[in-house]
This record gives sequence, structure tokens and C-alpha cells, in this order.
Amino acid sequence: MLNGQPHLIVATPRESETQRWAQHFRDAYPDWRVDLFQPGQAATGAQYAVVWQPDPLLFSQEPSVRAVFNLGAGVDAMAASIPSDMPLYRLEDAGMAEQMAEYALYGVLQATGRFRPYEEQAREGRWKAHRPVDRKQWPVAVLGLGVIGRKVADVIASLGYPVHGWSRTLHQADFPTYAGQAGLHDCLAASRILVNALPLTAQTRGLINEDTLSRLQPGAYLINLARGAHIVDQDVLDALDSGQLSGALLDVFTQEPLPADHPYWGHPGVMVTPHISGITLREQALEQIGSRIALLHQGQPAEGRVDVRLGY
Ligand code: GLV
Repeated sequence: MLNGQPHLIVATPRESETQRWAQHFRDAYPDWRVDLFQPGQAATGAQYAVVWQPDPLLFSQEPSVRAVFNLGAGVDAMAASIPSDMPLYRLEDAGMAEQMAEYALYGVLQATGRFRPYEEQAREGRWKAHRPVDRKQWPVAVLGLGVIGRKVADVIASLGYPVHGWSRTLHQADFPTYAGQAGLHDCLAASRILVNALPLTAQTRGLINEDTLSRLQPGAYLINLARGAHIVDQDVLDALDSGQLSGALLDVFTQEPLPADHPYWGHPGVMVTPHISGITLREQALEQIGSRIALLHQGQPAEGRVDVRLGY
């Protein structure tokens, strides 16, 4: 139990974003002290840091910070800079999982092409029914069965698509699940659509590459809603060229914004979106982070703690 009200510091790469979140916390928790991080300023004495991709200086400049709260699900941007014993909490779901399941479903519909003839026919004023898509022909691999991957997998499975889920450790689910290297190969071989919902760690970096893509059923479709560095971009472009991939819906990139001259832009098989598959929702994030800070401040444990060693 700490004396007084919680004292927060907010740190993000953009000053306007830092100010915005600081104001949200002040509005939601008027008794708390909320400061803004500026590199080079004197230590504020904050006990909790609320961050998105924070400047690594944060951790040396604010030595009284005793817990860090990420304003998103993925904590990879801090992996190299956060002290290994610093309690780190990430957003769990907080309204993101539903958005991401919807995003994945949009990709599945792009893959099957169910609505493509109707888009054309609507423009042409033509009334003609086509046979329904045979969902069994579109088995979906979901990589990563955390809160987000699990929601994606459950939503897609609920619509009758065969779903195969892969994760680092074996999970129980109503669909077949796999773990480990051999499990990954089996999961991919059983699938034609690949949805990536993994955390970015040393083990998962570059996991979507020539070898893994070649294990999917031919004419596969890739949906990446996790991190750009999971993908070897050239291998995806080559697989699109060879027809091993029929298309890709990509939300995340090694460099964001995606550079103007990147071959993904304008590629006929690729749809690019600007990292919007799961947007942090203000109300849910404030509620989740605020209630966790309140618990810690009373000396109680809080959920959502990241295993910094594992990276998620
Ligand atoms: C967004 O990419 C997040 O990690 O929340």
C-alpha cells in the first residue's frame, strides 16, 4: 500500500499523443497526478508509466517508476530497453480482439472471393446468383492463441471454417491445436488461409518466410495483424509472384508508415491498411489500466503482467 494517490507519467513517441492520453487519465482519475515524459527533463517521481513505444531514456530518467502499462497489446517495442525486473502490463483485449477478429474475417472474405462477382454485377446492374463458397475448402491457420488469436479463431470457426490453431505451448480449444516446430508444419499443411496473431519475439521474428509459406495449401492467403517483422517481405512478394499466395491483407510493417516506394503499395494481390486492425479504445484502455494501477497502489496483484523474458 502506497501513501497518497497514484502518480503517473505518460510516454509515447508523439507529443500530441502523450498530451491526449495524459488528459484522458486526468479526466478519468482527477485525484491522480499525471505528468508528461520529455527526454532530458528532471525526474518527476512518478510511480507508474503509461506508455506506447516509449523513449528508452524513460527508464533511467524516472527511477521511481515501479510498474509500466502499455497502451497496446504488443510490448515488443520495449523489449530491448525495459529493465528485466520491471513489472510490465499490457492491454488484454480491451476492445481490440473483436476489432481484430472482424479484420481477419474481412481477409477471409477477400480470400474466398465470395462477394467479388457481386461487386462487379452491382456496378453492371446484373442479377445473378452464384453457388455459395465451400468453407471446407478454406481452412484457416491462426498463429498465436493469446486473447486476440483465440478470439479470431473462435469467430472464424463459429462461421464453419475449419480452423487450426498454433501457439508456443499447446492450448485446448474446440478446433485442432498444435505447438512446436513439427506442429507448426502440420498446422500450415492443413490450411489455406494464414492469420498471424503472434507476439513478436526472438522466436517469432521472420517466422513467415519462404519455408513456412510453401507449407500452406497452394493459392494461400496471408492476413497479418500482428507485427511486420514476423514476415520476410521478399518471400511474401515471391510467393505472390509464383501463385503460392493468391493474396495478402497486411496491417503491420517493419517500417511504419509503409514507405511510399514499397512494392506492397499498389500490388494487385496486396491490400495494405495503416495499422488499424485493433485500435486502442480510450474508454476500455483507461478502465483496464486505471483499475490495475489502483490495485497495485493498494498492494494487490493485477492481471495482464507480461513475462518480460518471453516477450508477451
Ligand atoms: C498494436 O499494435 C498493439 O500492440 O496494441
